[in-house]
Amino acid sequence: MRKIHVIGIGAGDPEQLTLQAVRALRGTDVFFVLDKGEVKADLVRARRDMLDAHVEPGSYRVVEARDPERDRAAGGSAYSPAVGDWRSARADIYERLISEELGEEESGAFLVWGDPALYDSTLGILDEILARGAVAFTYDVVPGISSVSALVARHRTGLNRVAGPVQITTGRRLAEGLPEGVDDVVVMLDAHQAFRRYADQDIDIYWGAYIGTPDEILVSGPLAEAGPRIERIRAEARERKGWIMDTYLLRRNPERG
Ligand SMILES: C[S@@+](CC[C@H](N)C(=O)[O-])C[C@H]1O[C@@H](n2cnc3c(N)ncnc32)[C@H](O)[C@@H]1O
Repeated sequence: MRKIHVIGIGAGDPEQLTLQAVRALRGTDVFFVLDKGEVKADLVRARRDMLDAHVEPGSYRVVEARDPERDRAAGGSAYSPAVGDWRSARADIYERLISEELGEEESGAFLVWGDPALYDSTLGILDEILARGAVAFTYDVVPGISSVSALVARHRTGLNRVAGPVQITTGRRLAEGLPEGVDDVVVMLDAHQAFRRYADQDIDIYWGAYIGTPDEILVSGPLAEAGPRIERIRAEARERKGWIMDTYLLRRNPERG
């Protein structure tokens, strides 16, 4: 039976690769690498570097495929169908890779940025392929250090306060309002700096871009003061590198020392 490892590789720092992940890398015959175009070339390179650093050369194959384009213009009620179509298009590609590129007794792996459990569609896609029934395989999941863990570690703070809840959400949702009953909110996938809307509230922000990489930028402080600074730094960094990945924690009603 074919085997698949879904391996969390950490969110940017190659030293975030766990011993369990290295063991899974070494037990893999075929790595599937989805190329997401020019701007994400750096992320594909980071995966290649990990293989070079930890796996015996010549002991594995790398199969590259082009990731389907996602309709990012689709907003509002069109958003979910657009994501659904994109996921199915990805499932078609993954299904073909597994059935054509992986031998019956071989192990394949998908290297997932951060942790596979957080804002990543690989597990859902593999379940969709299994449900279609055309190709059989088993899969396991190796957890990774998520960008959320990396963010709070770099800022030397926790995610929640004593016995309090924390919510992880997207920029799109934050733009609709702060969640009720939660004072600590982590925001990912925010292309539009949704935090701007809350500059008049008593909120601290802990922001990080390219966390764990040589380009890492960290900014923290009261939102009213740090927010405009982050917008400026973010725009410059995005311009310079051509892409940006950033995450932040909003802490409402912070206790100030
Ligand atoms: C598609 S999600 C994948 C999250 C990933 N599975 C994880 O566990 O971190 C991509 C988002 O993760 C965040 N992200 C990933 N890596 C990051 C990094 N090195 N620095 C800052 N944010 C990062 C950004 O919010 C980005 O928009």
